[in-house]
Amino acid sequence: MIGNEAGTARFWDKRAATYDKTEADNEQLHSAIVDRSLGFLGSDDVALDYGCGTGALSYRLAPHVKALHGMDISKRMIDTARDRADLEHVEGLRFSAGSIFDDAFEPDSFDVIITSQVLHVMSNGDEALDRIHGLVKPGGWFLSTTPCMHEGQSVMKLANRALSVASAVRAIPYMKFSTGPDLERSISEAGFEIHETADLPFDQRPDMRYVFARFVAARKIH
Ligand SMILES: C[S@@+](CC[C@H](N)C(=O)[O-])C[C@H]1O[C@@H](n2cnc3c(N)ncnc32)[C@H](O)[C@@H]1O
Repeated sequence: MIGNEAGTARFWDKRAATYDKTEADNEQLHSAIVDRSLGFLGSDDVALDYGCGTGALSYRLAPHVKALHGMDISKRMIDTARDRADLEHVEGLRFSAGSIFDDAFEPDSFDVIITSQVLHVMSNGDEALDRIHGLVKPGGWFLSTTPCMHEGQSVMKLANRALSVASAVRAIPYMKFSTGPDLERSISEAGFEIHETADLPFDQRPDMRYVFARFVAARKIH
């Protein structure tokens, strides 16, 4: 782990017991991610679902690839994902707790890396994108779905300021909303070529009405 990843892990560990309850909210989003992702997944692919949480999306994607590794910084999230694995056996699916910055993976290890609702809670998002780029095989895919806010919204600036104060006093972990274009610029700067984007349905709570989930399919060219 690097930087404050241990603190981040502690925060999400505390959320793990109740996170599954929000899965009902995530159901529509996860269905949309699966639909969008199918065109980029192959039956011989080895995939990583990074920041997989309790594995709800991993379970839905795993049948479409040869092997899927769900990884999360929170051990408790992974424990929950594994409990489910004991109940439903899905071929080729495994989970581990850890960080993408650990030595667990060789460069060019994955045909596809997926992140769902993760990049906006990573304070080292640009470094993570560089690392993801290093772990995807040339010609492989990065499929990211990230909560974003519309460009120029003053509410976004206010929200980000409030989030940064809350995370400074450790009330919440790091969280920051980008615009779709800013997110895509970061993904391109990491060396990916943007192939497809879409805005997906997100959390229906009134306080989340300015937020949408940006799906980006990006290819590693070399
Ligand atoms: C909002 S949840 C999303 C979970 C899942 N991907 C989904 O779509 O339901 C964010 C997840 O990211 C994980 N996370 C946060 N920071 C992380 C980091 N630096 N490395 C790996 N996982 C991280 C958290 O533990 C949590 O499980």
